[in-house]
Amino acid sequence: MGKKLKKQRPVNLHLQNIRFPVTAIASILHRVSGIIMFVAIGILLWVLGLSLPSPEGFLQATALIDSFIVKFIFWGILTALVYHTLGGIRHMLIDFGYLEETLAMGKITANATFLLTVVLSILAGVLLW
Ligand code: HEM
Repeated sequence: MGKKLKKQRPVNLHLQNIRFPVTAIASILHRVSGIIMFVAIGILLWVLGLSLPSPEGFLQATALIDSFIVKFIFWGILTALVYHTLGGIRHMLIDFGYLEETLAMGKITANATFLLTVVLSILAGVLLW
């Protein structure tokens, strides 16, 4: 009995063969983008706080935003915002019954969200640089 049980147990996890469904990736990214924006609130409020009290502070803030790394961070925040907003609208359309609750529709709208995010993210990059 013991022998048979042992043989049926998985030997290892084939990590390279595991593929997440597109809907799972969409869900994980929605959470990740939500957390990124939560952290972003702190960063953005800090830059706003730097820019407001004095003209010198304002110049400091504009100089900061001019650097590549800060622009890159802002681009990341904007991309997270775009994805989270589109994903949120997708969620609400499903919840309110405007999109049928099927796997096929889930896949189509997840892919549409990704595609739109890429387009708007490129646009955000063009606006920033
Ligand atoms: C600064 C702005 C925002 C922050 C920090 C934020 C953050 C989050 C976080 C942390 C979650 C939980 C994710 C999870 O548990 O998987 C969430 C869920 C959600 N967010 Fe946002 N969010 C923001 C803006 C928005 C906007 C603009 C929309 C819609 C247009 C939106 C729609 C949603 C929806 C529908 C959910 C629930 C998703 C679900 O049921 O799994 N959020 N948000």
